Amino acid sequence: MQVIDIIKKTYHKLFWSWQPGSEKEAGDAIVKNFALHWFPNKVSKSSLSWNYSLWLGTISFVLFMILVFTGVVLMFLYVPSVERAYWSVKDIQYVVSFGWLMRNMHRISTHLMVFVVFLHMVRVFVTGGYKNGIAVGSNRPLNWIIGIVLLLLTWLLAFTGYLLPWDQLAFWAITVGINIAGEAPLIGNWIRELLLGGSTIDQSALIRFYVLHCFFLPLGLLILFAYHMWRVRKDGGLAVVDKELLKEKKENHEPIKTKTYSLLGLTNGTTVHVGATSIDEEKNSVPSVPHLTRRIWLVSLMTILMVVILSILFPAPLEAPANPNVTPNPAKAPWYFLWLQEIVTISTIKIGSFSINGALIGGILLPAILIIGTVFWPYLDKSSVDSVGVWFPKERKKQNMIFLLVVLLIVLFTIIGTYLRGPYWEFYWPWQSWPEPPVKF
Ligand code: HEM
Repeated sequence: MQVIDIIKKTYHKLFWSWQPGSEKEAGDAIVKNFALHWFPNKVSKSSLSWNYSLWLGTISFVLFMILVFTGVVLMFLYVPSVERAYWSVKDIQYVVSFGWLMRNMHRISTHLMVFVVFLHMVRVFVTGGYKNGIAVGSNRPLNWIIGIVLLLLTWLLAFTGYLLPWDQLAFWAITVGINIAGEAPLIGNWIRELLLGGSTIDQSALIRFYVLHCFFLPLGLLILFAYHMWRVRKDGGLAVVDKELLKEKKENHEPIKTKTYSLLGLTNGTTVHVGATSIDEEKNSVPSVPHLTRRIWLVSLMTILMVVILSILFPAPLEAPANPNVTPNPAKAPWYFLWLQEIVTISTIKIGSFSINGALIGGILLPAILIIGTVFWPYLDKSSVDSVGVWFPKERKKQNMIFLLVVLLIVLFTIIGTYLRGPYWEFYWPWQSWPEPPVKF
C-alpha cells in the first residue's frame, strides 16, 4: 500500500504542479479563478469515466478553440477579395513563417470537428443520453435539439470556409453545394440569393461567406455551446449519473434526494420552486479540481498534439486559381456533403420523358426528413428510465439498430462519393484508371 502511495505521490509531483490539500482548497480554486468559474464544485465519478462519454464533446470544443486561434492568425493575412484571396492564401502557405502550419492546423481541425461532433451525436444516441432519467428538473431532449443546431452550425462553418482559398477545388465544391440547396422548392432561389448575394459565385458571395465564417457562425456556435453546457449541469450532469441514481434507489429503496430552491423566500403563499436532483452526494462525487480539470487538460493536450501531427503529415491542398470557365470533372461537394451528392445521383431517375429530380430528394426532402426525425426522436422514444446513460441497452436495441443503419449508409455513401466516383460521376474501383484525358479534381 505504501509503495502505491509513493508511486502516486511521485506521479503527481512529476506531472501536476498543484494538488489541493482539502475539499475547501479545491472549492476555493474554482471560486477564486475566473476561467474555472463555469465548473461545478463537485462532479459525479461516473461522468468522469473515459468510456462513457469518450470525451467527444470536450474534444469537439477543443477543436473549435484551435479553429478560433488559428483562424484569428489567418485573418491577419487573408484578403477577402476575388482578385487577391487566392494569392494571399498562397503567401500564407509558402511565404509567411509558420503560415503553412496555421493553415494546415485550421483545415485539419475543421475536418476533425465535423467528424468528431458527428461521433459525439452517435454516442449520445446509443447511450440514451438525450433521455430524462429519474433526476428532477432535467430536460435533456432540449439539449439534444440544441446539439442538432450545433451540428448544423459546424457544417455551415466548414462549408463557408471551403470557399475562402478561392481555388478550383473551393469554387466548384461550393458551386455543387449551392446547386443542391438551390433545388429546394419555393425557397431554393431565395437560399441561393441569400448566400451568394446574387445568382453567381463572385465577390458578393466571397464577402458573405467570409463574414459568416469569421463572425456570425463562430459567435452563434459559442453562445449555443455555453447554453449546451449550462443545460448539462441543469439536467443533473450526464445521463450516466441518472443510471447511478437509479441503481442506488433500487438498492436502498430510498426516495431520491432533491434540492428545492425557492425564490429568495420573498413570496407569500405558494412559492415558486425549482427542483434539481442532488448529485453531490459524498460517496459518488469528487471535487472538480483537480479531477475534472486534469482530465480536460489531458484531453486538450492530446487533441492539440494530434492536430499538429496530422497538420505536418497532411498539407492543405491549393489548386489553380478559381476559374468559372473550367469545370473539373467530376465536380465534388465538400466531403461531408458527398453522401447527399451520392443520394442525388441515385435518386435521379429518367424514363423517357418522365424524370424524378434527384436534387429535390437527396438535397432537400431527405435531409429535411432526417433533421425533423432526429429532432423529434427523444419525444417518440418511450423506453424506460433503465435505458438512460447505458451503452446499447437491450430495451433500445431496435432504435439503436435503425439509427446505426442510417449512420452506416451515410458513411458508406460518403466513402463512395469520395473515393469511387470519377468523371461524369461514374463508379470506378480504386484500381481502375479514369478515361483519357485524365481530368484532375
Ligand atoms: C459543436 C458541437 C458540440 C459540442 C462542442 C458539444 C459539447 C458537449 C460536451 C462537452 C458534453 C459533455 C459530455 C461529453 O464530453 O461528451 C456534451 C454533452 C451532450 N451533448 Fe453535446 N456538443 C456538441 C454537439 C452535440 C450534438 C450534435 C448533439 C446531438 C444531436 C449533442 C447532444 C448532447 C447531449 C444530449 C449531451 C448530454 C449527454 C449525456 O448526458 O450523456 N451535442 N456536449
